[in-house]
Amino acid sequence: MISLAVYPGSFDPITNGHLDLLERGLKVFDKILIAIARNAGKKPLFSIDERVELIEDSLRGRSYEDRLEVVSFDGLLVDYVRKVNAKAILRGLRAISDFEYEFPMSLMNRKLNEEVETFFLMTGLRYNYISSTIIKEVVISGGSVSGLVPEPVERKLREKFMKLDEGSSDVPRVVVPLADPKLVLRKKAS
Ligand code: COA
Repeated sequence: MISLAVYPGSFDPITNGHLDLLERGLKVFDKILIAIARNAGKKPLFSIDERVELIEDSLRGRSYEDRLEVVSFDGLLVDYVRKVNAKAILRGLRAISDFEYEFPMSLMNRKLNEEVETFFLMTGLRYNYISSTIIKEVVISGGSVSGLVPEPVERKLREKFMKLDEGSSDVPRVVVPLADPKLVLRKKAS
């Protein structure tokens, strides 16, 4: 029997921090489903289809590519986990503030379904300070995020923000609070 975990998140967009966590998660699990939450309660920059495509492009050619699958889900995470016959949720912790956010969520998930356990891995030190929001903030202000996100993501972010600059109407208005980076670091769901 293969061990299967679900790694949920908004992935708007995926970063090298997520990839690092996945790579280490694959040392424990045979297969991981990267599950994009349709209702994460955030106003996303990228559509679900764009996020799926970005993740798939970012995984292409990696040695572990065939042990990962990109999916999206609606509704409760534990219901989705049950639907795919998994028993494990994988989440990353970057800081104590993440723990405060994750702890009640994992307890609630366990209350909703006692069969499902949440496994936490510490985010790689190199990526400890990044989040999808901080990445978008840097790109929108013209900075480089090279080495922090996969190359397809960096390219797509530049395209997207270039379109926003030109005032294209088919792109959602951002989205990115130009927040004090210190606040972004302290708050998981920004
Ligand atoms: N490296 C870099 N950044 C990371 C990271 C890592 N390893 N792990 C998390 N992050 C960042 C993300 O980029 C994201 O940044 P952002 O807030 O700037 O977008 C932030 O941390 C939040 O992480 P994420 O993993 O995307 O969580 P989320 O809060 O967006 O999503 C769900 C949480 C989807 C798991 C949760 O809302 C859920 O389960 N929803 C389904 C409905 C449900 O069941 N609700 C009841 C739950 S009790």
